[in-house]
Amino acid sequence: MNIEETINEVKEEFQEMFAEAHDSESLEKLRIRFLGKNGRVKKLYGKMGSIPDESKPVLGKELNKLKQQITRQLEVRQEKIEEEKKKQQLEEERIDVTLPGTRIKTGSQHPLSLVTEELEDIFISMGFKIAEGPEVEDEYYNFKALNIPEDHPARDLQDTLYLDDLYLLRTHTSPVQVRTMEKTKPPIKIIAPGRVYRADELDASHSPVFHQLEGLVVDDKITFGDLKGTISIMVEQIFGEEHSVRFRPSYFPFTEPSAEVDVSCIVCEGKGCSLCSRTGWLEIMGSGMVHPKVLSMSDIDPRSYSGFAFGMGIDRIALLKYGIDDIRLLQENDRRFLQQFK
Ligand code: PHE
Repeated sequence: MNIEETINEVKEEFQEMFAEAHDSESLEKLRIRFLGKNGRVKKLYGKMGSIPDESKPVLGKELNKLKQQITRQLEVRQEKIEEEKKKQQLEEERIDVTLPGTRIKTGSQHPLSLVTEELEDIFISMGFKIAEGPEVEDEYYNFKALNIPEDHPARDLQDTLYLDDLYLLRTHTSPVQVRTMEKTKPPIKIIAPGRVYRADELDASHSPVFHQLEGLVVDDKITFGDLKGTISIMVEQIFGEEHSVRFRPSYFPFTEPSAEVDVSCIVCEGKGCSLCSRTGWLEIMGSGMVHPKVLSMSDIDPRSYSGFAFGMGIDRIALLKYGIDDIRLLQENDRRFLQQFK
């Protein structure tokens, strides 16, 4: 086969393969095959030495033309492919500026915050101020100043989380009573919401961390009737007017007399169901008249002043109010749960 024929053959072969090459990769393969160092065209140049001188100009021209053509064809198609790619990319990234934006998911208030704020509002409307105390307490404020004796079971390691010999995590908000009485003289009218701790295992109805709202009123001539009136208004507002309240005699070392407060069952309305253990009543707080010893330990003369105090579990009130059956739901912060309180 002479070189002319070979040139033609290479030309045809290129055109055939070129017809099939539609992506950059195949084009690059073609470039290497035809224009590369050991490519077909290079080899044809190599053969130029062995042809008669008079044919050289013509064949040389032919060969140059072939090389240029191949180069040009490859370039043009590569450009086209790149253009296509760009177009496609633009198409994919097209944005419709008239579409509504993605909404930012906003949080919602935690049911505990909702109930706490509602309780605060109720008491503030009755003239109470909000007081605070530390969560790390000492034995004096948590127990001794509240007339809780040395050998009282509440002081036991089993119930109280001690930090060391002196400090502990407060087991109730009642120490705020003492701190308030030490700082201010009557008339006193405060509530103290806050976190409290007990050495309890976490289950559906117990948690080692929960919340209480303490109340304390001290003035001259404060009576048990004032306590009843205050609590009845609070229960009416938080649970609804249809609910009744009852005071059941009880015992707390820091109040005398003491009473536990029950609200008529929010599920069965007093008929008896599993929530209220068939009693028709749900216990919601402890209360009583401040013990004279507690007043005098805080330098308030029990002959001139009297007072009442109460302490309720905020978590329990939230569970009852919203019909939640597991206290753990209040701590897990599952958005599906929390969203329901918007
Ligand atoms: N501190 C008590 C408790 O945690 C509740 C209480 C407060 C009782 C004030 C009477 C008066 O159980």
